Amino acid sequence: MSKVITSISDWRAIRQTFEPAQTVGFVPTMGNLHQGHQSLLTQSRKENVISVLSIFVNPAQFNDTNDLAKYPRTFEADCQIAENECTDYVLFPNNDELYPDSCRYQVSEQEQSLILEGKSRPGHFTGMLTIVLKLLNLVKPTRAYFGEKDFQQLELVKGMVDALFLDIDIIPCETVREPSGLAMSSRNNRLAPHERLLADHFAQALQQFTSKETFIDYLEKQGISVDYVETWQNRLLAAVHIGKIRLIDNVILET
Ligand code: PAJ
Repeated sequence: MSKVITSISDWRAIRQTFEPAQTVGFVPTMGNLHQGHQSLLTQSRKENVISVLSIFVNPAQFNDTNDLAKYPRTFEADCQIAENECTDYVLFPNNDELYPDSCRYQVSEQEQSLILEGKSRPGHFTGMLTIVLKLLNLVKPTRAYFGEKDFQQLELVKGMVDALFLDIDIIPCETVREPSGLAMSSRNNRLAPHERLLADHFAQALQQFTSKETFIDYLEKQGISVDYVETWQNRLLAAVHIGKIRLIDNVILET
């Protein structure tokens, strides 16, 4: 059985009992787990003696209050997935436990957090880096697993770990996709059937990308509104709005 821990002090007492030789794998999430998250848990289980999942919908990284309010909370189903993946601990702390400082202390990055997602979602990466640092300090993992689906997030976490001399390996995990090519995301469930088809087209067009102009033109003709399409770190990254839902995705560029 995965052990559910809601209290930080309980967790810290448990963490103290781990032997130095026991490697710890950590998968931070906001819950509503799907096969993308599951693949991170599988890898964490395989590579470590102890595997830890955290579930916390972090208000500080939502710049849209509606998005935060609508974020799906599916704790029971998430625990079942954790259980299936033989996860040892599920950390499920609340806001007051994680923000005893009421957000007075924050981690901000001054360059890569301001472009792409950061430009469209001001403050998002400060909120994300702050909670990730708090969680890494609590879990003290040997390895932490992050999806390439959120490529800019992955790069920023790697950068923070280097800059702050954290002794943790950040392990990138490939994007898990639906058979249509659409990257799995908690937001996909909020797409109406006709929007879901458009989302599939977005993912397929990204895989077949030839030029920015043709790509944007194709999407706009379908009624998909493009937030950005940019190349960065040898990747093509894109964000779009389909109805009220914002989706992001990225692919490696051929060298
Ligand atoms: P969340 O969106 O729940 O994602 C948790 C982890 O799952 C992230 O590392 C994300 O990149 C990965 N992930 C999501 N969809 C994926 C997919 N289709 N394939 C592979 N991996 C996927 O990202 C966050 O939460 C938060 O920002 C967090 C890091 C937990 C900080 O609050």
